[in-house]
Amino acid sequence: MKPDPPTVLIVDDQPLNIDLLEQELGAAGYRTLAERGGEAALARAAAAAPDLILLDVMMPGIDGYETCRRLKAHEATKSIPVIFLTALKETFEKVRAFELGAVDYVTKPFESEELLARVGTHVALRREIEAHRRSKATIRVLVEQMRDDGDPLIGESAALARVREQIAQVAATDSTVLIEGETGTGKELVARAIHAQSARRERALVKLNCAALPHELVESELFGHEKGAFTGAHQQRRGRFELADGGSLLLDEVGELPLAAQAKLLRVLQEREFERVGGTHALRVDVRVIAATNRDLQAEVAAGRFRADLYFRLHVFPIRLPPLRERRDDIPRLLQHVAARIARRLGRQVEGIAPAFVERARAHAWPGNVRELENVVERALIMSPGGLLDGDGGLAAAPAFHTGSTDADPAQAASLLEVERAHIRRALEATRWTIEGEAGAARRLGLNPSTLRGRMRKLGIRKGA
Ligand SMILES: Nc1ncnc2c1ncn2[C@@H]1O[C@H](COP(=O)(O)OP(=O)(O)OP(=O)(O)O)[C@@H](O)[C@H]1O
Ligand SMILES: [Mg+2]
Repeated sequence: MKPDPPTVLIVDDQPLNIDLLEQELGAAGYRTLAERGGEAALARAAAAAPDLILLDVMMPGIDGYETCRRLKAHEATKSIPVIFLTALKETFEKVRAFELGAVDYVTKPFESEELLARVGTHVALRREIEAHRRSKATIRVLVEQMRDDGDPLIGESAALARVREQIAQVAATDSTVLIEGETGTGKELVARAIHAQSARRERALVKLNCAALPHELVESELFGHEKGAFTGAHQQRRGRFELADGGSLLLDEVGELPLAAQAKLLRVLQEREFERVGGTHALRVDVRVIAATNRDLQAEVAAGRFRADLYFRLHVFPIRLPPLRERRDDIPRLLQHVAARIARRLGRQVEGIAPAFVERARAHAWPGNVRELENVVERALIMSPGGLLDGDGGLAAAPAFHTGSTDADPAQAASLLEVERAHIRRALEATRWTIEGEAGAARRLGLNPSTLRGRMRKLGIRKGA
């Protein structure tokens, strides 16, 4: 794309000077505008927004200085660079001119090369500054969007209300946070919310996934390295702790950190200082650490895989994210939220979510938690061109009963509904399907008889069926 030719506003009371400047600038590819007095120049500058103003000092009416002062006082014109035009004979007040906000001056009679060089430099500079300002504005918008997108933690369950409350409490501090929860429960979402609600929100939230790195690279990623620290370290490199200075650092899957790196991390948390790998001088940083894990860290400590002292350093303010199956009441709202978001991404509409779909989702075990729910909804949306979620999104085809371990093989597992149906049938079998027996079965199952009958109706359990 070819940019518009830059526009220069010439302000001079001498028509001859204007002609001369218009010729020079025109030949060099500029567009020119001209005014013969300060007042007129102010109005013109505001209306035409030129890239630069050449301003004569001595003019009838308001002089160049006053014109410059007013240009700089006015929002619409204050960022337009002003170059003064001054005759050699004049007692030009350089310092005053610069103090008023001029960027340069040219003496008359001017040399055309010098004039063009000065005009060219300031026009280019202004364009750079404007581009920078625009990209900063764009970045601000993007940051705001990320904030908006990252924010909503959907769910009205008591467990989630508690999480929200904890986020608000800890966000106001610099304390270390440990977020514990199964895969897909929203640990990263919570980390983002803490950062976004903290005083560090304008600074970076830097993330390091401790599980995704080969052991030998973890320390260099965390702390950086000096040139030549190890084979392949061709340049000095800053680590995540340095990059997060003033902001927050999310150590994701912290349970996967090798023991050697754990010792170093402990030191940073205790002393707030560290050395780059291969470095000798200590660096101090101001970083709020948020750690996340889907492992049971206490069990890791017991097994000797995680340092107890580091565990206590991280366990300052623990937030436990409950798995989805422990807050089934959140599922309907989550389905709606997730369906709307995914539909937007796919450029589709959600017509509705059938009650049967919601029921099946409520009964599912969700070993992959909200992330699994997102996948199911996406699949269901793709399979229903009308945008009505009424299939089961593969929930029946890929039943997944949570067995307590996070890496349960879904193919081996049955859906919760199936397990419940079989379990109730077994209890009824044991009491031989008699009415009196039903009360005994209910007792065995820890249900009152009317609840048991309700479940039987719902699951279609009849003798022989
Ligand atoms: N309460 C919630 N409301 C809305 N969306 C959620 C909620 N919890 C999780 N999500 C969404 O589910 C997905 C998984 O969340 P996230 O990445 O935060 O989980 P995680 O606990 O970090 O998982 P992993 O252990 O696999 O890294 C994300 O797309 C996130 O936006
Ligand atoms: Mg995560």
